[in-house]
Amino acid sequence: MNTCIVGLQWGDEGKGKVVDILAEEHDIVVRYSGGANAGHTVVVGDIRFALHILPSGSIRQDTVCVIASGVVVDPEVLIAGLERLARENITLDNRLFISENAHIVLDYHKKEDQLREESLGKDKIGTTIRGIGPCYADKVGRSYAVRMADLRDLEKLKAKLQRIVAYKNKIFGAVYDAEPLSAEGIFEKCRFYAERLLGFTVDTTAFLHRSIAEGKSVLFEGAQGSLLDLDHGTFPFVTSSNSSALGMSAGCGVPAKMVDRFLGVAKAYTTRVGGGPFPTEQDNEIGQYIRDKGNEYGTTTGRPRRCGWFDAVAVSYGITIGGVDSTALMHLDTLSGLKELQICRAYKIDGEETAFFPAETTRLARVQCVYETCPGWEEDISEARDFEDLPLNARKYIRLVEEMTKKAISIIGVGPERNQTIFM
Ligand code: GDP
Ligand code: IMO
Ligand code: MG
Repeated sequence: MNTCIVGLQWGDEGKGKVVDILAEEHDIVVRYSGGANAGHTVVVGDIRFALHILPSGSIRQDTVCVIASGVVVDPEVLIAGLERLARENITLDNRLFISENAHIVLDYHKKEDQLREESLGKDKIGTTIRGIGPCYADKVGRSYAVRMADLRDLEKLKAKLQRIVAYKNKIFGAVYDAEPLSAEGIFEKCRFYAERLLGFTVDTTAFLHRSIAEGKSVLFEGAQGSLLDLDHGTFPFVTSSNSSALGMSAGCGVPAKMVDRFLGVAKAYTTRVGGGPFPTEQDNEIGQYIRDKGNEYGTTTGRPRRCGWFDAVAVSYGITIGGVDSTALMHLDTLSGLKELQICRAYKIDGEETAFFPAETTRLARVQCVYETCPGWEEDISEARDFEDLPLNARKYIRLVEEMTKKAISIIGVGPERNQTIFM
């Protein structure tokens, strides 16, 4: 059984927890897109792991982990991740495979991300400043791109970096009046990355196909969420990769028809970090209640997340474009204590009702939400392990979400820990 996990909202749906749980029944976990903009949390007992580049299967010592070609690898973050796990006596030796075709995020990408965002003022995207956009731009532009395979020939890479950094410095100086970066400094870092990471670097496409042919099962781990997809999300307030399920095949070279099950992950409400329209946002005491109770602060940047009601129109869009089979609904526990809950079942745009999400941002910014109200519940549900353990109104809420998204919910999250999960 091969499974693909994908976020159905604007990221941070709880994918890390779901991947960690399902990793137990798969042999291999693959990250296929995004980079260190992702922050996937896995909680095991008292230990909280925040994974940025390493797949969320890393915590399990017998899981093979792959970082495929669609990922933009920040080697510094990756090495820090390996060291963090080593402190818990978890090693990835002989079970981590990084694509030789994966592009590398270097200092000038992060600097460009930061300078550009600063220069945009209130019109900024609100990126994570992890250099994601500039690195993917260099990938598409080709001539100034650096891949893992380039670490194999350091002499050639040195010359290439001199050319690239000279070009970047001209732009940084002319456009942003910024200090130049040192090509030598960046090269020395690359020398260290080569020492540390080349031992893990292979042709991951060949590895994955060989493994699948041998009967191994693969779990594909999406990063970000469907609404942040470069082509199908709320552009320009998106990330620079295809972060919906559509990015899976391109990101790792395995066709979607080899995936048996696409599992979409959504929160029982909605959150968003950074700019862009957010129809069900509650910029009020309800949003604050959710933020406090759900600890809604960015895993990567620490920024407070914007919070709002569950948006069935938005989630259904992620389900539709991704061909999602069933969903995992996380953070149901966070809604305990709210008297009344709202679910957005349709939008009104210019007087007309629609249930199809308009990703075009100027149109999305104009929508009015059509809500259905459901009664809340007071009980703490973090100890519930069966659907029947949930209060009646929580069960009604789940059924309503299923009805509006037209998909069965197969997993319910009632807390951050592995066992705080209900399997339907
Ligand atoms: P990801 O990027 O999709 O992996 O999600 P993040 O890790 O950025 O954010 C999800 C947060 O919610 C993390 O702090 C998780 O530990 C936590 N979490 C996951 N599932 C649940 C849940 O069902 N209930 C609660 N209360 N927390 C959860
Ligand atoms: P995970 O995998 C939530 C958002 C940023 C910003 C936009 C562009 O943890 O769900 P970028 O740095 O990618 O250029 O930023 O995308 N963003 C995320 N939001 N979760 C993420 O990842 C995100 N990755 C990027 O906040 O709005
Ligand atoms: Mg996250």
